[in-house]
Amino acid sequence: MASLFSKTISLGKELKISDEEFVNLRGFIYEQCGIYIADNRKYLLENRLGNRLKKLNLKDFEEYYYYLRYDPGKASELKKLFEVITTNETSFYRNPPQLQVFQEKVLTDVLKVARSKGKKLRIWSAGCSTGEEPYTVSIIVHELLKSEVGAWDIRITANDLSDRVLESARKGVYNDYTLRTTPREIVSRYFDAEDKTFRIRPEVKKLVSFGQINLNDRTQMRRVERSQIIFCRNVIIYFDDDMKRRVISAFYDNLLPGGYLIIGHSESLHNISRAFKPIHFPGAIIYKKEE
Ligand SMILES: C[S@@+](CC[C@H](N)C(=O)[O-])C[C@H]1O[C@@H](n2cnc3c(N)ncnc32)[C@H](O)[C@@H]1O
Repeated sequence: MASLFSKTISLGKELKISDEEFVNLRGFIYEQCGIYIADNRKYLLENRLGNRLKKLNLKDFEEYYYYLRYDPGKASELKKLFEVITTNETSFYRNPPQLQVFQEKVLTDVLKVARSKGKKLRIWSAGCSTGEEPYTVSIIVHELLKSEVGAWDIRITANDLSDRVLESARKGVYNDYTLRTTPREIVSRYFDAEDKTFRIRPEVKKLVSFGQINLNDRTQMRRVERSQIIFCRNVIIYFDDDMKRRVISAFYDNLLPGGYLIIGHSESLHNISRAFKPIHFPGAIIYKKEE
């Protein structure tokens, strides 16, 4: 009875983060993964990390900071920290006008060139969250190549910082909400309905390989095979300009000449990179690495 009572008290206690603790923790997070937490999002650390402190029996955020930096258990805590601070919102067929440009212009152009060069296609989905983006790309590849898919050498490399989202992506089982902007005929063609869930079909899964990569780690990024197309949508929005420049420059290096970079609708390379040529389409700007 006594232990239940003390638990209630500790759960009810609000853990506040001081300005100094916030600045230290923010610096540490930035150092590790390039995500910059603005001042007005201080509450995010306070709210989302409070439970971690309680679990680890730490009395304040200063202790948590030292734990992350120096404790032998820090590697597994770092993974948990990444899970807490990342925003993983995503969906299938996210931003349909942009994907229409991808299907009708970008991918069509890339396939035309690749057709006479060994039928090899490499696409990178960086910051893929729970898999909706790379699977959407795989579906669109199937839509264009149809029964020819098997005659091509295709790989969609899908990476994220968070192990938890990757685990879910590998399962490939989704709810109706994440399919809300997906055409119904696509759902029936590429998913198996199971009770209230939808399982992605094996032929779509087969083209995608998931793995953990931190976009703040240039060495890890260099290991990704060179691509004709890179998707990095709704990811750089969480980075400061310096980190954006480093990531975009790594994408530039990874892309083959004539390759395309596709970023989020609300993101821009303005003041970040002049290396790419922006191509304006109705409803989308696509960035091209010139030949
Ligand atoms: C909002 S989701 C976007 C998902 C998908 N690209 C889309 O547009 O629907 C952002 C993803 O970027 C990942 N992310 C953030 N920082 C990262 C980093 N440094 N390295 C790799 N992935 C990162 C997050 O874990 C999260 O899953």
